Amino acid sequence: MINYNYGKNENTNWIVEETIYKEKFLGKTESTFLLGNGYFGIRSANEESTANTTRNTFISGTFNKADENEVTELPNVNDVYSLDLFVDGEQLIINDTTVTNYSKRLNVRTGLLERKMDVTNGDLVVHIATKRFISLANIHLTASVFEVTANKDVSIEFYSMIDGQVSNSGAQHFYEGEKKLIDGKYLENVIKTTQSKVEVATHVAHNFNQDIDSLIMMDRRKVGFRYRANLTSGIPFTMEKYATFTTSIDLDCQDNFVQTGLEILQDAEANGFAAELEKSVAAWNEYWNEVNIEIEGDDFTLLSVRYAQYQLRVNCPMHDERMNIGAKGLSGEGYKGHTFWDTELFMLPYFIFAQPQAARSLVKYRYHGLEGARLKAKENNYQGAMYPWEAAWPSDGEVTPVWGAADVVTGEATKIWSGFIEQHITADVIYGLWLYYQVTGDQEFMNKYGYEMIFDTANFWTSRVEMEAKGYVIKNVIGPDEYKEHVDNNSFTNYMAKWNLDLALSYVEMIDESLKADLKQKIGLNIDGWKDVSNNIFLNTPNEDNVLPQDDTYLTLDTLDLTPYKNADRVGTLFEEYSLSQVNKLQISKQADVMVLFLLMEGLFSKEVKQSSFEYYEPKTLHDSSLSLSTHVVLAQDLGNTDISEVLFERACKIDIGENMKSSDHGIHTASLGGIWQGVVYGFGGVRIVNEQLRIEPSIHSKWNKLAFRINYQSQVLAINISQQAFTVANHGSTNIKFINKGKTYDVAANDQVTINL
Ligand code: BGC
Repeated sequence: MINYNYGKNENTNWIVEETIYKEKFLGKTESTFLLGNGYFGIRSANEESTANTTRNTFISGTFNKADENEVTELPNVNDVYSLDLFVDGEQLIINDTTVTNYSKRLNVRTGLLERKMDVTNGDLVVHIATKRFISLANIHLTASVFEVTANKDVSIEFYSMIDGQVSNSGAQHFYEGEKKLIDGKYLENVIKTTQSKVEVATHVAHNFNQDIDSLIMMDRRKVGFRYRANLTSGIPFTMEKYATFTTSIDLDCQDNFVQTGLEILQDAEANGFAAELEKSVAAWNEYWNEVNIEIEGDDFTLLSVRYAQYQLRVNCPMHDERMNIGAKGLSGEGYKGHTFWDTELFMLPYFIFAQPQAARSLVKYRYHGLEGARLKAKENNYQGAMYPWEAAWPSDGEVTPVWGAADVVTGEATKIWSGFIEQHITADVIYGLWLYYQVTGDQEFMNKYGYEMIFDTANFWTSRVEMEAKGYVIKNVIGPDEYKEHVDNNSFTNYMAKWNLDLALSYVEMIDESLKADLKQKIGLNIDGWKDVSNNIFLNTPNEDNVLPQDDTYLTLDTLDLTPYKNADRVGTLFEEYSLSQVNKLQISKQADVMVLFLLMEGLFSKEVKQSSFEYYEPKTLHDSSLSLSTHVVLAQDLGNTDISEVLFERACKIDIGENMKSSDHGIHTASLGGIWQGVVYGFGGVRIVNEQLRIEPSIHSKWNKLAFRINYQSQVLAINISQQAFTVANHGSTNIKFINKGKTYDVAANDQVTINL
């Protein structure tokens, strides 16, 4: 159904388009064509109200807890785009049979959403064309054009509102607010969340290309206008609608957010849609100038990676370091706007190499999160900082819901254990920080924030382990593979904990004495404890078949033929037949587990161990989490299994914009989008930090003639251009840069380049 308008020329390599209107598939483009700028996002629901529509507008950081039994979540704020058109007194019905000549397209280069269609009712044909964007230049602004042309003279009527009759699947997050009309033109609504007391102001203004009759309307949680106009056959009627969102937590305007919202609106409305769009496009141009990737020979991948970069940008709250990216970004209620390890291991590498300032903000969020992490450690009787599995406002601590989907065997809700025992997140956060430091060399960040994070998490691990005959063990955890609950010594967790401790030990030797004294005073440095645990922690080792055990028991469990589930057209089908407690007792993995360890700790295991483990676990892995594929892609590519990496890479690219029209209804998969970038730059581009050095060992996809991208490294920009025969690294910076290829060190002077044959 989705048509990728790629491959024809340079311009169409940026467009994702839906060409057939099907009500049951509305969710797909609502979420995958998300508009946003990191401050806020709006699902691209069509204007008309139809079944299967989910309207969502989320503003980053406005978390609220609807009641005591729920966890905090991003509340769905006022909708500004719903609109039903009445023609000659009758509602224009939009459905699968009345709509023809339909096109809905997102241009990821400009952030513009456009929709066109003809709606037929008897001999009446109404052409509707809409345009909409969220400004990247002015984070509070969205604007749209709604155009109607009829094939005869008709009268039209519609309501255009600020609509607060919205909820999160029924949960109500706001009190009825204040509604106002200012100067007969500007609509204002100010509402407040029920628990966190965040105030949100919405302002709306309209402009028309012809005379129109307007009447102010107010209702519960609604304010707007009823409009009536007479249309002449063939002459387009247009409405421009501008809306702004501002809140009481905005760093740029919290003291006068209501007035600021109004002023931005008035300004935009005076400038006009085209001028505001131009400003936003200029901001997009700047972005693409920094991050653009070129691929020759494979237009779908080129579009996929650009699409991923678009989504990573629109979902990243770069404006405020107290906020982070949710697992579904701003595109749906799924995962409640919460941040997971998805950020550090899947998305952060993109920002570190492509947009280091944004990366800094994302890492700083975790520094603010120390407060919540210490709270969680304390609540669990541990020391130091224990990061929450799911995070919202940084000081909240753990916000993972406790109850999930129904257990098909008992009929009861399944307990979600991740918030209690999925503890690898603490080391993952430190991995993200470490990578940021390695690539940017941001010493100031480390001195002010980074060392404290590393040392206090080391303090946590020291208190988390238990001594047994085989050494320090970590019992009762969930590793990355969430189909194995309450396991002991998950390899990923234990190795990462040791790595976290070793990092603390090496850095504590390097920092200056006064900083060390300050940190000792502030958080306590249990250096002897770190050493003891690091030296004596139990680590699983590869068995006689070179397979690294996932945990103490996985390899002893029964197996099941997973073919039907692996071939199913959707994920999670196993749970229509088995309960989680049954799956816990089988060698079935949800997603990459030890594979992630191989990727992060590259030098730790031999190629044979990685290869045998890949062959052992992959057939037992359902890839039920969208995070799974990209890890397998990069590893398979590293191991030279290009057939596998290319097949899995294509699947990864299709998670959100592929043929499966139901895969993204609840929201896009932000981590997997970061994974697409990793597939390209880590996998085929061969870029990695190994032993604290930049390594570049490309081997591009068999279909590609060229892969070119830029990375930021130590504040310099490197342009990497790869063909099937050779690759060039050009240093656009002002100091020389070293990198490793096949064990050899290359030194590239400023403004110079090296070419290496493949
Ligand atoms: C995955 C986790 C992931 C979460 C959010 C779960 O299904 O198993 O690894 O962090 O989704 O994307």
